[in-house]
Amino acid sequence: MKLLVTGGAGYIGSICVEQLVKMNNKVVVIDNLQEGNRDAAAPDAEFIKGDYGDKKLLIKVFDEFEIEAVIHFAAETTIKESMTDPSLYFHNNLINGINLLDVMKEFACKKIIFSSTAAIFGEPEYTPIDENHPPNPINSYGESKLLFERVLDWYKRAYGLKFNTFRYFNAAGASEKYGECHRNETHLIPLLIKAVLGQLEDFKLFGNDYPTKDRTCVRDYIHVIDIASAHILALDNLDKHPQGKYNLGNGEGFTNLEVLKMVENVSGEKIKYEFGPRRYGDPSILIASAKKARKELGWRPKYPGLEDIVRSAWDWHKKHPRGYQ
Ligand SMILES: NC(=O)c1ccc[n+]([C@@H]2O[C@H](COP(=O)([O-])OP(=O)(O)OC[C@H]3O[C@@H](n4cnc5c(N)ncnc54)[C@H](O)[C@@H]3O)[C@@H](O)[C@H]2O)c1
Repeated sequence: MKLLVTGGAGYIGSICVEQLVKMNNKVVVIDNLQEGNRDAAAPDAEFIKGDYGDKKLLIKVFDEFEIEAVIHFAAETTIKESMTDPSLYFHNNLINGINLLDVMKEFACKKIIFSSTAAIFGEPEYTPIDENHPPNPINSYGESKLLFERVLDWYKRAYGLKFNTFRYFNAAGASEKYGECHRNETHLIPLLIKAVLGQLEDFKLFGNDYPTKDRTCVRDYIHVIDIASAHILALDNLDKHPQGKYNLGNGEGFTNLEVLKMVENVSGEKIKYEFGPRRYGDPSILIASAKKARKELGWRPKYPGLEDIVRSAWDWHKKHPRGYQ
């Protein structure tokens, strides 16, 4: 299949592209490298450095490569920043996204898989969070993703677009070649690993006043390779489920302190930490029910255990202590 992957040089995109090219798909990556790394985009994929909001560029790409489907990862992704600069989030995650859909429409490309997020749900009314849970984002990041999901509903209804959206809970882990390497890292596991590798001056856990067993946040971690496999299944099943919205996680929550202990166990090192205040916009508990993805797509995570997830991240960071530099 001829695929366009936006954000394919970013963390999740790079590992999805790796799997897609392995399966002999022809992949074109557009990434402006605001967060991604050129070396993270598989060499067998066509790489175009550019902004996916650039309509002229998109038209050229659709024209030249006869794109049949799109996997859309590119986004602004930092919750804290989304609280202070919502304009950035609505522009990149919503307006640019609509632009992309319009170019797809122009070229009669009717298939898209979209990276949504658990952040569309806000503070959960119950856990695990299934697809019937009402969305109620508490940060503009989650809001921008939810609005784009709604746009997809309308494009399906009016133009026959077929789409799946995945609300990932916390993506983590690595493949052998590609791993998590954000310029401004905000995710717990890579930060803990950086602390072990002596790359952080001091390590802060945000918030110890949450209503959880050890008063730190609870999150559901999902291996990035399992996220990639869900996308591949989604492409295969798009005709059967042309409006599929799926939560992706392992259905088990770990507190920040439990994750810290796991990184200590896997690395064999003690981590010095202190508590900082809560981060704005961080819900206390996020655990997914992924029953729908299992049932409709036949999705089965290969690496559901936290230890495997942390070990793969640790192995990657040990091999790439400076990331992609
Ligand atoms: N990492 C997680 O735990 C997680 C959880 C839920 C949802 N998501 C979603 O998954 C997707 C991928 O997340 P990630 O962690 O890999 O993020 P990432 O920042 O590593 O990847 C995003 C990529 O998109 C690129 N990009 C951003 N704006 C662009 C633009 N306008 N034009 C071209 N390229 C652009 C960046 O350079 C980056 O390479 C995002 O949509 C994110 O919202 C991630």
